[in-house]
Amino acid sequence: MAEYMVIRGGRPLEGTARLPAAKNSVLPLLAAALLCKGESVLTQVPRLSDVEQSVAILTALGCRCQWRGRGLAVDGAEAGGDGALPEGPVRAMRSSVFYLAPALHRCGRVQMPMPGGCKLGPRPIDIHLDGLVKMGARVQWQGESLTVTAPGGLHGVDYSLRLPSVGATETLLMAAVLAPGQTVLRGAAAEPEIADLAAFLTACGARIRGAGTPLVQVEGVEALTGATHTPIPDRIVAATLAAAVASAGGRVKLLGCPFEPLAPTLEILCRAGCTAEHGGNTVTVSREGPLKGVGRVYTGVYPAFSTDAAPVVAAALLTAAGHSAVEDTVFENRFACAEGFSALGGRAVRCGRALEIEGVARLSGADLRAQDLRGGAALAVAALAAEGESRLFGLAHIRRGYGDLAGILRALGADAACRRE
Ligand code: EPZ
Repeated sequence: MAEYMVIRGGRPLEGTARLPAAKNSVLPLLAAALLCKGESVLTQVPRLSDVEQSVAILTALGCRCQWRGRGLAVDGAEAGGDGALPEGPVRAMRSSVFYLAPALHRCGRVQMPMPGGCKLGPRPIDIHLDGLVKMGARVQWQGESLTVTAPGGLHGVDYSLRLPSVGATETLLMAAVLAPGQTVLRGAAAEPEIADLAAFLTACGARIRGAGTPLVQVEGVEALTGATHTPIPDRIVAATLAAAVASAGGRVKLLGCPFEPLAPTLEILCRAGCTAEHGGNTVTVSREGPLKGVGRVYTGVYPAFSTDAAPVVAAALLTAAGHSAVEDTVFENRFACAEGFSALGGRAVRCGRALEIEGVARLSGADLRAQDLRGGAALAVAALAAEGESRLFGLAHIRRGYGDLAGILRALGADAACRRE
């Protein structure tokens, strides 16, 4: 019995939405809790399938995990074992890579298959591994299975990342906080989720400077205690809802939504004809009149326009009169959703890493299938502007990052629900 989301488009969105905690912060934070000898509590954790997979990995490594209302407690006191990570959860998401450094510190070795996750192009982990090797780790591949050991433990290093990988920066930060000596990470990624991870680790006793900038310095400490921490809000959910308003029309107020991380997305949507106001931690996005094309826009590493926001913004531009092109400089296969856009009657053609769009006057409901997390959300955003009924299959992809996206949209007035065939 396949489950799908049914959306009847043509209704503007109205109302208020409070942003959930950021998936891309919660996932590395959960891995970081494994570094701690005591209990950590993340006060706001969305019920996402990737969070459930993280709990499975932490439990397999001897941590005690307990949901406390919307919070999640992880006690690392008893963590240990042989560092063999459970295959299923590791293959289910890219974020299993975050367990490399913490498990190395707690177990002395890690054995895992290649992490899974959205098929956005080749997603090697060479920078994660190269940095760990420079810190004293040894890496062995047996086919697709990886074993990493650190016979003499890890030590500080002055390391330049060959590109500002978000995950590799987080891996090397988690390796450095318990590695004796000083670590310098040059060319680190600067995403807000990295500063959030550093804030948690600092609350646990780590000594970190410069997280959230391209130059990070760490002084290794003996042990980390654990801490209570509220993860930052999800800037990609914010971008998704802003694009949904652009697509459907209407007016939505986003609560708990810092302006800065959303600014590049809002700039593009306002160029297309939306209005955005912000104050304190609230951003209000509205769209009344018709949208117009925005020309060529590019994603980039933070603080540029986020690669994760590219598909949902492209969805909103399908009905923007004239030409738009969205080029992803980060991943090669960001626009698998182009097939669904065409099924809706959109004129969107993939050209290398870019999606070339000619706006159309109307979209018509169709059967759609999510190929990845953000592309799936983009199909829902596009369906909001389509006349008639669309059925969106492949909800497992969307559940990795949004929980109940249909419920979030329905609460804003969309005609959206989940059904079983
Ligand atoms: C994180 O993925 C996010 N995931 C992604 O969000 C996000 O798109 C990405 O950062 C870029 O912002 C999480 O935080 C859980 P990268 P990550 O390492 O760490 C190459 C979502 O939808 N690379 O910054 O995997 C890589 O192939 C997800 O929420 C190497 O070559 O991204 C890519 O081209 C999707 N070697 C580029 O760097 C490495 O060792 C950026 O990847 C690591 C990465």
